[in-house]
Amino acid sequence: MTWLVTGGAGYIGAHVVRVLAGAGVPVVVFDDLSTGEAARLPEGVPLETGSVLDRARLDAVLGEHRVTGVLHIAGKKQVAESVERPLHYYRENVEGLRVLLEAMRAAGVDRLVFSSSASVYGVPEPELVTEDTPCLPISPYGETKLIGEWLLRDASVAYGLRTIALRYFNVVGAGLPGLADKGAANLVPLIFERVDAGRPPLVFGDDYDTPDGTCVRDYVHVQDIAEAHLAAARRLDEAPEGIALRLNIGRGEGSSVLEMIERVLKTTGRTDLVPEVVPRRPGDAARCVASADAIRAELGWSARYGLDEMIESAWQGWRHLHD
Ligand code: WQD
Repeated sequence: MTWLVTGGAGYIGAHVVRVLAGAGVPVVVFDDLSTGEAARLPEGVPLETGSVLDRARLDAVLGEHRVTGVLHIAGKKQVAESVERPLHYYRENVEGLRVLLEAMRAAGVDRLVFSSSASVYGVPEPELVTEDTPCLPISPYGETKLIGEWLLRDASVAYGLRTIALRYFNVVGAGLPGLADKGAANLVPLIFERVDAGRPPLVFGDDYDTPDGTCVRDYVHVQDIAEAHLAAARRLDEAPEGIALRLNIGRGEGSSVLEMIERVLKTTGRTDLVPEVVPRRPGDAARCVASADAIRAELGWSARYGLDEMIESAWQGWRHLHD
């Protein structure tokens, strides 16, 4: 039962690889090393360099390692960049998945776990977003993830593929300092950057219709995210043909930007810095918090870590990268 992890040398992928390898699941990494790094991989895990756009390379790797399932984590993930380079995002995220599905079909590999995103929901209305909440993405990035989910669904129906799309909410932290995200443009690393510069963190708008006026999100530890992938892979090993699940990975708990900033400043020892409110960032939802009921029911998974563990581990990872 060998699982191929595309993007396995990346931030989330490397966490998934560690969890799978730690659980004794045979795993092979496939990564183009555009943002991934071989140094993130534990010893003994084979790395095959290549792009998911390269069908011949995929054919060779799937065959050589007798792959039985794929965790497809490779992809482009910067929302702002996707607005500037939509064709690039469609090529990497949509065409990459299409080619991978072709290669899987040719090789008789019928299990796929796909990295999707809460960005498929766009600006959701409900207090807690369920998997049935309408998907109305507002960025090319979110669109490519939603189209990816449609490809999975259609391939499950047509070819009997077993698939699970995992919709990540806001991922934070590092399972080991050396596995931290590099160059991420998300709230927590942006606060760290400001702290290092001795400047106040920025709040993108405090006039939202939320308890403290700042946006509310569902932050999840990357280690928890990785463990959900193991649960998904195990589930597919026992699932009937044609199954196509889509599941939120969140904690079901909302945290505001101000609350996050306060906690991060405490962790970094810079409570003297007073957050600076600047205008809203276009396209931000006031609130985006998961219902985590479906994933608990389907995979028996729920998050183990809270905000303090996420932020502390993220800070250690940041110091590892910057000291
Ligand atoms: C969180 C909140 C900002 C920086 C995006 C993608 C999503 C997923 C994760 C990935 C927002 C506010 C931020 C700052 C701030 N992507 N903020 N000051 O936008 O919820 O989600 O990243 O694969 O698909 O959409 O995450 O971390 O950018 O922002 O006030 O300096 O923090 O406005 O409300 P977001 P984020």
